[in-house]
Order: sequence, then structure tokens, then C-alpha cells
Amino acid sequence: MSFLNLHQLTKHYRTKGGNVEALNSVDLSIDAGEFVAIQGPSGCGKTTLLLALGGMLRPTSGSVTVDDTELYRLSSRERAAFRANSIGFVFQMFHLVPYLSILENIWLGSGVGGNTKPDKERAQTLLDQLGMADRQHHLPSELSAGEKQRAAVARAMINQPKVILADEPTGNLDPNNASDVVRYLQEFNRDGGTVVMVTHGTNADLAANRVVQLEKGQIISQ
Ligand SMILES: Nc1ncnc2c1ncn2[C@@H]1O[C@H](COP(=O)(O)OP(=O)(O)OP(=O)(O)O)[C@@H](O)[C@H]1O
Ligand SMILES: [Mg+2]
Repeated sequence: MSFLNLHQLTKHYRTKGGNVEALNSVDLSIDAGEFVAIQGPSGCGKTTLLLALGGMLRPTSGSVTVDDTELYRLSSRERAAFRANSIGFVFQMFHLVPYLSILENIWLGSGVGGNTKPDKERAQTLLDQLGMADRQHHLPSELSAGEKQRAAVARAMINQPKVILADEPTGNLDPNNASDVVRYLQEFNRDGGTVVMVTHGTNADLAANRVVQLEKGQIISQ
């Protein structure tokens, strides 16, 4: 089996306005070491797919397997631990904790998942590598969008995950910051990590070695 597997993945959201079919019977296999870009029009299910793949959104039916572990057969506690140790997530809107410094945002991520200890030194090294050493004691609100996104990438990398899932990580950035963020993801990939990145068809997708196109909750090319 491939490193990441979606099998007949279906996600329907129930709302007051009715049922929304966000994903319909999606099959997707991704090998370890791939860099995959997920593209498609707004509302086609990209974020839904990424959240399900990251163990953060239980599908209506179908299965998600990461590194031979079927995520939604785990208890929520086991799944959180698995996620903390194997999966890094970069959100489009950063999701940094507003009242913690950048350094704390990053190194506290290493304390979750049960068997790992907060690793402040690694957090400092990552910040240094991302050109942010002099910003470590700033709050997220005191940083530019590009700096926040770099901090979010550092947080995703803190536990040396096997895979990074990134939802439009360059969406809010100017071209320079965008290419920096993509470069960090490429370096992670070159060191053997797997990357799945949602993009809106910008230059970011040039970094990918495969493009998966979604439309109306289904894969139309891969
Ligand atoms: N929590 C939710 N409750 C109900 N419907 C939702 C929810 N989240 C997403 N949807 C719907 O599911 C569909 C897929 O949403 P999703 O966020 O996955 O799209 P997307 O491809 O990431 O879009 P975008 O490019 O705009 O971020 C959309 O029609 C959306 O309105
Ligand atoms: Mg989205």
C-alpha cells in the first residue's frame, strides 16, 4: 500500500440548507517522498480532503490510511497522538496562538503526542533556518503575514513529521515570501518528507511532481 491512501472517501456536510456533498468516492494514493499539488475551483473540496487526510475530519464513508494506519479506526486520543508525531499541518490562516510568542508557538507543538518532550532548541534552530531568529519573542500580531506563515511552517516541522499537509500556504503572501515558503517545503521534501499542498494554480505548483485536479468533490485528473 502507498504511504497515503484515500479509499472511496466521501464527505457530506449536513447543514440547515440541506446536505452538501463535499467529496464523493475519492480514491487517491500518494507514495512516500512525493510532492503533490491539489488544485481546483473554490468549493470543490480541497480543504475537506486535506483535513480528512490529516485526521482532523471524519469522513462520511471510506477510509484514510497513513503509513499503514487507518486513521478513523483509532480513538480520537490515539489519532491526536499519531497526528502530532507523523503529520505537520500548515493552515492558510496560520492559526498561531495569539498570546504565545513565536518561539512558544513552535516549541509547544513538540510537547503534544504523549511521548515527545517540548524541544526548545530544535524550535530555535528551525526559526534560525527560516530567517526568524530575531523574531522569536514576538507575538504573532507583531509579525508580517510572510513571517507568520514561516512560523507556521516551522511549527509543522517541529516533530519531524513524515508528511506535511499545507492548505494554500502561499495564498496570503507576496511572491518573495511565497517562494520562500515553497522552498522550505521543497527542502523538507528533498530530505525525504512527503508534501501535499493545496494551491490555486500559482507558481507554487511548479514545486510539485504531481498535480491532482479536483472538481465538485471528485478527482478529474491526477
Ligand atoms: N463545515 C461545513 N459545513 C457545511 N458545508 C461545508 C463545510 N465546510 C465546507 N463546506 C462546503 O463543502 C464544499 C467544499 O468545501 P472546501 O472548504 O473543501 O472547498 P475548497 O476546495 O477548499 O474551497 P476554497 O478554494 O474556497 O478554499 C463547499 O461547497 C463548502 O461550502
Ligand atoms: Mg479551502
